Amino acid sequence: TLIPTFCFSSCYCKENLSRAQNAVRGSGRLNRSGLSLLVSPECLESTESGDVFVDCQDRRLTSIPKSQTWSREPKHFLLARNQIKVLRDGAFFGYESLTSIDLQQNQISLVEEGAFKGLTRLTTLLLQHNRLETLSEEALIPMPHLRYLRLYDNPWNCLCLMDSLIRTIQIPSNRNLGNHARCAEPIRLKGMKLKQVDPELLCKESDPTNETRGNQTDTTHPVKPSPIRTKPDATTSCHTYLFPEIWMDCSRKGLTEVPTGIPEDVVRIDLSHNSIRHLRARDFQSARSLRSLNLSNNNMEHIDTVSLSGLLHLRQLDLSDNSLHFVQYGVLEDLYFLSKLKLGGNPWVCNYSIHYMVYWLRLHQGVRYSGLLCHSPPEYTGESVEEYMHSYNRECPKDRQHSRTDQDQTDPELWNTAMEAQAELEEELEPSHLRAPQKYQIFRLS
Ligand SMILES: *[C@@H]1O[C@H](CO)[C@@H](O)[C@H](O)[C@H]1NC(C)=O
Ligand SMILES: *[C@@H]1O[C@H](CO)[C@@H](O)[C@H](O)[C@H]1NC(C)=O
Ligand SMILES: *[C@@H]1O[C@H](CO)[C@@H](O)[C@H](O)[C@H]1NC(C)=O
Ligand SMILES: *[C@@H]1O[C@H](CO)[C@@H](O)[C@H](O)[C@H]1NC(C)=O
Ligand SMILES: *[C@@H]1O[C@H](CO)[C@@H](O)[C@H](O)[C@H]1NC(C)=O
Ligand SMILES: *[C@@H]1O[C@H](CO)[C@@H](O)[C@H](O)[C@H]1NC(C)=O
Repeated sequence: TLIPTFCFSSCYCKENLSRAQNAVRGSGRLNRSGLSLLVSPECLESTESGDVFVDCQDRRLTSIPKSQTWSREPKHFLLARNQIKVLRDGAFFGYESLTSIDLQQNQISLVEEGAFKGLTRLTTLLLQHNRLETLSEEALIPMPHLRYLRLYDNPWNCLCLMDSLIRTIQIPSNRNLGNHARCAEPIRLKGMKLKQVDPELLCKESDPTNETRGNQTDTTHPVKPSPIRTKPDATTSCHTYLFPEIWMDCSRKGLTEVPTGIPEDVVRIDLSHNSIRHLRARDFQSARSLRSLNLSNNNMEHIDTVSLSGLLHLRQLDLSDNSLHFVQYGVLEDLYFLSKLKLGGNPWVCNYSIHYMVYWLRLHQGVRYSGLLCHSPPEYTGESVEEYMHSYNRECPKDRQHSRTDQDQTDPELWNTAMEAQAELEEELEPSHLRAPQKYQIFRLS
């Protein structure tokens, strides 16, 4: 079975949603009091590429549903954004087929030592954005194949109890265990990465006289965070989901720029509802696998020419509800496989600068696009940009020195090759007094 190529918003690429919904079973359906921890949640079972997924995200769960609830043993268990506070011993009995569990964005503050018993096939465990202060390495022992463990954004208390866990994640071969997680306590280790903290310091009693030293300048104390704003980091600013595809939810995070460090394997990123004004060169440099990029509902006025370069696999681009007047020549050049482009809700200006986008769309007939309407000047307000182009070409025959007819200009069928159209475009973008008489000669002004 092929995974559907695109999955925007909250859909999880259900292979067969209706089947999944029908598959929800269990006595809990008969007891909707919502009070009982045993009430079975209305989760979705689905199959993708032969793997069984159970999606219980956003279900207000306070505990792990019993494994008998499902018609088949799941391989991936999505439990993000619930209200689970404790993982009890044996919480995953009956879930021996699991290879991944996503428990991010719960309220977990306690993991009992036997919580993960039986999960011998588990490779991925996501515990970021919880309330864990401590976790014993013992809890990880039942999972010999664990390769990805996310622990960041938990208030880790780096004391003696964490000694064995910290030593484990610092073993070089465990390079995907516990990255980005930092100590919140004690003060002397605050902000240190678990990956880097010196295990020898964990069990040291802190000397109380050092804490009350008064006004003396103390260089051993951690420096206050620098007031200089640094670029936000994607892994800490956004929520990362691994299944059924790797994607990042960075929407509504108050971002004013694209965060750095988007991991190379991220397939989809949602940056909507932020305050990004400007896409800069190299903003997506690391994000080579991106297939869908959602930048809707920002304040974007400008997109640097090379900011989208290298996104060779991008299929969907949502630029709607921004402040764009036009896109600069060259911005779209690398998007060979784009198939969907959303442009609505921008104040597109129907002047010469918009021609690039229209030509690019003519050359890329496979791109379905929407929302390309003139916002100004007043004589074109509300008209589609294509109509504006049509009248531009009709009304300015004197601007067309070469022998092509208006029909030639607007009918993509008559454009023989991309090269030819490109040359035409570049030529047209020159101010007319600089235009070379030869059709394919191109001046660079910069
Ligand atoms: C982008 O995000 C907005 C806001 O969350 C959403 O309405 C829109 O559908 C998304 N775009 C696509 C192409 O899914
Ligand atoms: C999807 O589920 C419906 C209802 O159970 C079923 O009739 C249909 O055959 C299923 N389609 C596929 C492709 O599995
Ligand atoms: C639902 O479950 C709760 C808690 O187990 C129980 O007190 C209640 O009687 C049940 N309601 C019904 C209708 O079975
Ligand atoms: C407390 O202060 C002394 C002397 O300044 C220093 O040697 C010691 O390492 C400090 N202890 C801690 C826990 O910071
Ligand atoms: C130490 O700090 C307190 C309050 O922060 C202040 O009132 C006092 O004058 C300071 N003492 C010295 C020696 O700087
Ligand atoms: C088109 O309008 C935009 C926005 O007002 C302006 O920045 C741009 O220079 C104009 N382009 C031309 C060719 O006049």
